[in-house]
Amino acid sequence: MFPGIPGVLRDEHHELHQHLAQCMNEPGRLGQVGRELERLLHLHCVSEESFALPPLGLLPRVARGEVSADMAEVVPMTRRLKSELPRLFAEHKELNALGDRLREAALAAGRTEYANLADALRLHTRTEEEVLYPAAIVLGDLVAEELRQRELVRA
Ligand SMILES: [Fe+2]
Ligand SMILES: [Fe+2]
Repeated sequence: MFPGIPGVLRDEHHELHQHLAQCMNEPGRLGQVGRELERLLHLHCVSEESFALPPLGLLPRVARGEVSADMAEVVPMTRRLKSELPRLFAEHKELNALGDRLREAALAAGRTEYANLADALRLHTRTEEEVLYPAAIVLGDLVAEELRQRELVRA
């Protein structure tokens, strides 16, 4: 069975949204930047959860050397991830710029807990760019190659 997005990554997205949901109700500039950030983050996460993160659910099995035909469905996802990397990176840049504006607004309003949200967002996007996206792409390439070789052997 295809396990989908690892729970820890789903939780991390959920946590970012939870913090922003509180921030969105703050008065003035803080709430305004919070709503802007939430809108962009929502669209970005929906996109990631549809093709960038689900392949990672297979990592434990593939790390044990298991590759099976049911894994073929991740290959179009990781190919799409590869082709959409520039867009995802550009969105991270935009998200972090909004995060910086949120930090400024939070500090101006004396709400340091929201300033920390900007740091959490930056760490999240760095982890995706430096570890998670490449891991998903390597996994998809490995699955595709393994399944292709089996086809050749069978032919
Ligand atoms: Fe994310
Ligand atoms: Fe992201």
